Amino acid sequence: MSVYDSIRFTVAIDGPAAAGKGTIARGLADHFGLAYLDTGLLYRTVAAKALGGHDPITAASELIPSDMTSQTLRSPQVTQMASKVAVIPEVRAALLVFQKNFASQDGGSVLDGRDIGTMICPEAQIKIFITASVEIRAKRRFGELQNSGSKTTFKKVLKDIKERDKRDITRIEAPLKPACDAYILDTSKLSIVTSLQKAIDFTSEAYVKAIKFNH
Ligand code: DC
Repeated sequence: MSVYDSIRFTVAIDGPAAAGKGTIARGLADHFGLAYLDTGLLYRTVAAKALGGHDPITAASELIPSDMTSQTLRSPQVTQMASKVAVIPEVRAALLVFQKNFASQDGGSVLDGRDIGTMICPEAQIKIFITASVEIRAKRRFGELQNSGSKTTFKKVLKDIKERDKRDITRIEAPLKPACDAYILDTSKLSIVTSLQKAIDFTSEAYVKAIKFNH
C-alpha cells in the first residue's frame, strides 16, 4: 500500500446551485487522486423516490449507491423536490452516516454540497465555498439546459434558482452557509480553468502536509 492509499485528507466544497461546485470538486479529486462524492445526488435520489410516492425518510434510510445513477435525477422536478426533502431533519440525519463514512475513507476524499464544511466534515483540512452572482449562475444553468435540448426560458431558470437558494439558505437544519474557516471562491468573473487552478493552489500545501504526516 502506498502513502497515497492511506492518507486521511478531506476537501469540503459547498456553495449554491450552479456556482461551479461539481466541476471544481471533480477537478480537485482528479488532480489529487481523491474519491469524489456529489452529495446533491443523495438528496436528488430521495426526491425522485418521493415523487414516485415513497416516504422520503424511509427512502433516505434505505438508500443504496446503485439508486444514485438514474438519468432522471437532473430533471427540473427532481431538482426542486431535492431542496424540499433536504429541509426534513430526519432525511438529513439518515444521509449523514453515508457521507461521513465516504469522507473518512483511506486515500482521501472530496465532497460537495451545502453543509459539508459546517456539518458533515467540520474537521476537513480544506473547506472551499464556491459562489457566483445569481444572474451568472442562472445564465450558466440556462446554457446547459439549452444544450441538452430543453425549451425552458432564462426567466424560469432564474426564478427556480432563486427559490432553491432561499429554501437552502433559510432552512433550520444545516442551512447553506460558508464554514467560518472556508476559502470563499467567487467564480462570477472567472473561467473554469482559472477557478479550478485557484482551488488547486489553495489545497496543495495542506495535501503535501497530509502526505508528510502519513509518512
Ligand atoms: O447540489 P445539487 O444542486 O445537486 O443539490 C440538490 C439539492 O439538494 C439542493 O438544492 C439542496 C440539497 N442538498 C443539501 O441540502 N445538502 C447537500 N449537502 C447537498 C444537496
